[in-house]
Amino acid sequence: MFIHGCGQPKKDTNGAVSSTSRIASQVGIDILKNGGNAFDAIVATGFALAVTSPSNGNLGGGGFLVARTAEGELISLDFREKAPKLSFENMFLDKDGNYVRDLALFSHISSGVPGTVNGLIKIFNDYGSGKFTLNELLQPAIDLADDGFAIEPTAARGFDTNKNHFIKDAGSKEIFIKNKDNVITDLENKFKNGELNFKDYEIMLNEIDEWKTGDIFIQKDLANTLRRIAKNGNKGFYEGKTAQYIVDEMKLNNGLMSYQDLKDYDSVYRKPVVGSYKDYTIVSMGPPSSGGVLLIQMLNMLENFDIQNMERNSTEFVHLLTEIQRLAYADRAVHLGDPDFWSNPINMLTSKDYALERLGLISLEKATPSTSIAAGTTKNESIETTHYSVMDKDGNTAGITTTINFSYGNKKIVDNAGFLLNNEMDDFSAKPNVPNAFGLIGGEANAIQPYKRPLSSMSPTLVIDKNGQSILTVGAAGGSRIITAVLQIIISVLDHDLNIQEAIDTPRTHSQWLPDFIFYEKGALDQNKIDELKMLNHAFYNDKNLPGNFYLARTHGIQRKNGSFISGADKRGTQNGNEAITY
Ligand code: GLY
Repeated sequence: MFIHGCGQPKKDTNGAVSSTSRIASQVGIDILKNGGNAFDAIVATGFALAVTSPSNGNLGGGGFLVARTAEGELISLDFREKAPKLSFENMFLDKDGNYVRDLALFSHISSGVPGTVNGLIKIFNDYGSGKFTLNELLQPAIDLADDGFAIEPTAARGFDTNKNHFIKDAGSKEIFIKNKDNVITDLENKFKNGELNFKDYEIMLNEIDEWKTGDIFIQKDLANTLRRIAKNGNKGFYEGKTAQYIVDEMKLNNGLMSYQDLKDYDSVYRKPVVGSYKDYTIVSMGPPSSGGVLLIQMLNMLENFDIQNMERNSTEFVHLLTEIQRLAYADRAVHLGDPDFWSNPINMLTSKDYALERLGLISLEKATPSTSIAAGTTKNESIETTHYSVMDKDGNTAGITTTINFSYGNKKIVDNAGFLLNNEMDDFSAKPNVPNAFGLIGGEANAIQPYKRPLSSMSPTLVIDKNGQSILTVGAAGGSRIITAVLQIIISVLDHDLNIQEAIDTPRTHSQWLPDFIFYEKGALDQNKIDELKMLNHAFYNDKNLPGNFYLARTHGIQRKNGSFISGADKRGTQNGNEAITY
């Protein structure tokens, strides 16, 4: 067995699991070792992540699966959150029509109806090997929640840095604040009574005992929720006690989600978006994700250039990348939305002709101002996250990107149920042309409507070679930066012959039409290249405070090469570094 992060990737031939948590990856590996297939393993890993990775692994959020069976069937499952029945277009605007950020991000009305449990159960029912019961796949998660597990450095840091939020919610305070005794209540009372100003309150709060790596984290309420799911399947979450706990939480905090919203939730199989890049087939997630469409559109444009001979992160490469990202994200803002509510011009946006036509709008000599680029015109045309992947020896390949939107979602725990609520409603366009938390703008296609799914950027993607072999599964966390991260990894593997770990490690750049900046990680660009790109009229985000700890998306993936599995896990934003396992 090889655990990534301990040296060069080793080649194992039985299977691989890559996720943001070593413990959860091990749960998946154990299922594979006991005769399960990639689908069994990804479901068990998903439920384990809900315990070991609360900032993003989730029961209270949603996600997408993109997979291919050993027989070659392509699958995409949409278990994205849906807007509750009582939601309405202007719900995040104040009386003057201004977007209220705190309402969209840190309130109970920021939560869409969660889809993760429904999605994982559907994958189990439809594609599991039949060798395990749902209860058996959930048992490792239940044990981890019940008995606790030693937290890793990233979780310890995450719990502490979000203290200011957690303290405002009874359930979150109970779970995430280590020393939740009289000290905190006393501080809170002093703040409320005006004896402490906010600054001193924050300083004193931060001096309270901190979480340490290796502390045992126990989640009894979550264990009970998982038990109800294990026993009753969907009804263990979308009906009965768990649903009632969610509804009680909503009622107490002016939330919108009803018991009926939960009962009615169902995930949907969608046609994956399929494109080609050179000799490879690219399979990714279509709307309500924008990821697959933009990825294929950008690959179509890049196919017209000699990328293989362009040095990665050279001035020439970053200029071209920025220009094609500009074109693709302009289309995102106008053309894409939930396919149950909006007609998405997928054929047009993913066609080779359209790519050529759009390339006519940019120049290889100078940056094109984003203000001069609009979305393409529709012709006859008959949207804190985590990614995890599994590949098994039979050829089943499964990748899931899942999210509660920002780290720890809206930072509110469902009392008695032990899981966090998402703030996915901010992925809608709250007001035309007003940026959401990822700086993305949108309009009618992604306006809020009851039962609609917000546009996502999650891009679980797989690549098939000319012999029909699945050779890569990759995806990322990072909102709007997901798509460009997946794109750069695919280019690094296919054009620059890096292995998946090297591809993940390579520093990245990102741009998204608006704001009209190049975002870049430490190590991606030296001062020379920055100056050269500025000569081409490019502008840089955070120009005065160069990147430092700034990182773009976190990516995970698995590559199959010459019959062996190579797993990749991102070190960005984590101090753990041993999350992907092959065996
Ligand atoms: N919540 C981020 C996304 O779905 O793109």
